[in-house]
Amino acid sequence: MGDRGTETVVVTGASTGLGLALARRLLGSSYRLVLTARASSLARFAAEGIGEGERVHVRALDVTSAAERAALIDEIDARWGGVDVLVNNAGVMYRAVLEHLTHDEMVEQLEVNYLGPVDLIRRALPAMRARRAGRIINVSSVGGMMAMPTMAAYSASKFALEGATESLYYETRPWGIKVSLVQPGFVHSDAYQLVHLTSESQHSVDDVREAYHAHYEHMAPFIARLMRLSRATPERVAKVIERTMRRRRPPLRVPATFDAHLFAALRRLLPRGFYHWLLYRNLPRVKTWGQLGP
Ligand SMILES: NC(=O)c1ccc[n+]([C@@H]2O[C@H](COP(=O)([O-])OP(=O)(O)OC[C@H]3O[C@@H](n4cnc5c(N)ncnc54)[C@H](OP(=O)(O)O)[C@@H]3O)[C@@H](O)[C@H]2O)c1
Repeated sequence: MGDRGTETVVVTGASTGLGLALARRLLGSSYRLVLTARASSLARFAAEGIGEGERVHVRALDVTSAAERAALIDEIDARWGGVDVLVNNAGVMYRAVLEHLTHDEMVEQLEVNYLGPVDLIRRALPAMRARRAGRIINVSSVGGMMAMPTMAAYSASKFALEGATESLYYETRPWGIKVSLVQPGFVHSDAYQLVHLTSESQHSVDDVREAYHAHYEHMAPFIARLMRLSRATPERVAKVIERTMRRRRPPLRVPATFDAHLFAALRRLLPRGFYHWLLYRNLPRVKTWGQLGP
């Protein structure tokens, strides 16, 4: 086993957004930081003034690459005796109705948001179990507690992450491993501009005569507006993640923004049928949806 003097924190997708805000927040801490991003994004760390140091290590990790996942965890096990805190933050969002998602596009979405993160966990766990300590924080979303139209694949990936994390919470508790889901809602950022359209959803966005055009036309600005109006910033969510990392008894689910608390309460308190009716009624201009196409 390597040097165990300092706790090692791994953050995936640390090149931008919430991951970068968390990286900045932890820079002055006593943790050893392993900040990861895809090789194509590594230059962003230097641009942000984050460089290699005694306590800061920048590594290439595409979470969809089994070879890169294995290399990262093997290196950390050998040099520092294992991961102490794994923050699975990297994520992408496909914007498409279910009918506009091919099998391969669904698998791509699941690979980044679910399959990659759970494989990192699987690889980090043996060293955590050996030490009878460790923390796993999976960044989920309000999309992991409720699904909205045009977000089928994203919600499926976050629901999958939530389900697996809930099992893990019970499975690893006997070794003292602490497992949490941090659930941000709408965050004031440009992240919504980074959503991926599939080839069919792009076609529908471009063609006013396409059956689902109204879904995209009204959902996209609706969500962009909610993000613009949100008072939650990446820095505030990073603060919630850090607090979760340091809590003696972190809860399984940690809503990270005001709307996440609100939606969690609505899901808990409202009868399910009434909740779905209410959400449908409040979708933007929903009466204009479904008027075109076969
Ligand atoms: N922002 C929000 O409103 C919001 C709300 C709820 C939940 N979340 C969740 O919070 C997490 C961070 O989101 P964000 O808003 O900060 O997003 P973001 O600004 O788009 O950043 C996403 C990060 O994930 C990385 N990434 C994407 N694909 C990757 C891959 N294949 N391998 C490794 N890294 C990859 C990106 O790296 P590259 O630089 O290489 O692209 C980037 O660092 C995600 O899990 C997201 O689902 C965000």
